[in-house]
Amino acid sequence: MTSLWDLGIHGKVKRRIKKIGILTGGGDCPGLNAVIRSVTRCAIHDHGWEVWGIEDGFAGLIEGRIHPLTWDSVAGILTHGGTILGTTNKTNPFLYAKKKKGRLVEYKDASRQAMKLFKSGQFDVLVCVGGDGTLSYAKRFAKEGLPIVVIPKTIDNDVPATERTVGFYTAVDTATEAIDKLYTTAASHHRAMIIEVMGRDAGWLALASGLATGASIILIPEFPFDIKKICDRVMQRSSVGRRFTIIVAAEGAHQADGKKIFQRKTDDVTQPLRLGGIGQWLSVQIEKMTGIESRSVMLGHILRSGSPIYMDRLLATTFGCEAVHRLATGEKNMMMAWGKGALTSIPLKHIPDGIRLVPKNHPWIDAARSMGALFAESVL
Ligand code: F6P
Repeated sequence: MTSLWDLGIHGKVKRRIKKIGILTGGGDCPGLNAVIRSVTRCAIHDHGWEVWGIEDGFAGLIEGRIHPLTWDSVAGILTHGGTILGTTNKTNPFLYAKKKKGRLVEYKDASRQAMKLFKSGQFDVLVCVGGDGTLSYAKRFAKEGLPIVVIPKTIDNDVPATERTVGFYTAVDTATEAIDKLYTTAASHHRAMIIEVMGRDAGWLALASGLATGASIILIPEFPFDIKKICDRVMQRSSVGRRFTIIVAAEGAHQADGKKIFQRKTDDVTQPLRLGGIGQWLSVQIEKMTGIESRSVMLGHILRSGSPIYMDRLLATTFGCEAVHRLATGEKNMMMAWGKGALTSIPLKHIPDGIRLVPKNHPWIDAARSMGALFAESVL
């Protein structure tokens, strides 16, 4: 069957897709294997394409670490967390860390090397499963002539131009289960319990899990908080006999001065500072200012781990299949997206840079406020 790809979207005759590569980039999350399986099987089953897996994100494309994926090699991975291809959140192909014996020698632009391998391997399209970092590299590669499609994934749910990312739902589910459990110990000991969740500079994960668990206070980076308001709420609850308080804090939550709490500096240019510790900081402040005993729990990487829940499996599988079908009809240089209740694709050139933050008027914000949750904003 002649596809639009043969004809070319601008009328020029183009090579029919025969071979595609797929990589997973950035932090892992539940559902990546479901995407790999979906893209591989759909490409083989519906179009007869060859599919190759690229190891450890763009690093594998630069270093030539690739292997074929078959119907059987992706069997049984739908329910598995992580990624069978491996990933890294430290590889920027345009600022690639060259190492010798594990030590950094220099940073160089390795994008040409990646393009060379893509061409010499006779790949027709590169499928990148990634978050905002991977998306930004994909946009640059597309501009340089490499046909590409991005499938958005991250527990942070902060990829621009899509309301859903693979991995988010499982992370919310894991956080919800943990927070539900922490209620009993918080209540028994009459403590303020702060649960710190990942999410980097966006509050989606904290907001969703805070709302789903009925947390009294939800702290997200989008609303700089006032520590006094937090303490007043803890005290007020105590004064009416509610002797415990559940606080869900995003790791990127901060006061009006914008200073975030970091675990430590790293030697990685893509992530020079590692977020973490706001829960512990809050617990010290709350105990000092209210006299009420406080504890903090950092959920950390457990949120990225484990088997994907059904929502992520569905999203991963439909994103993967739809991406393949769209490629077969000649679409390229786009990102799969979920918007206004439907699955769609957005041209890479129309996707804004940066991350997608929680809008102030999001229905989850309104609902949380109506449930009596406090965001403790420093300015209203
Ligand atoms: O972007 C996903 C994410 O899990 C963030 O929520 C978190 O800040 C970061 O990755 C942690 O990265 P690492 O695995 O390098 O500690």
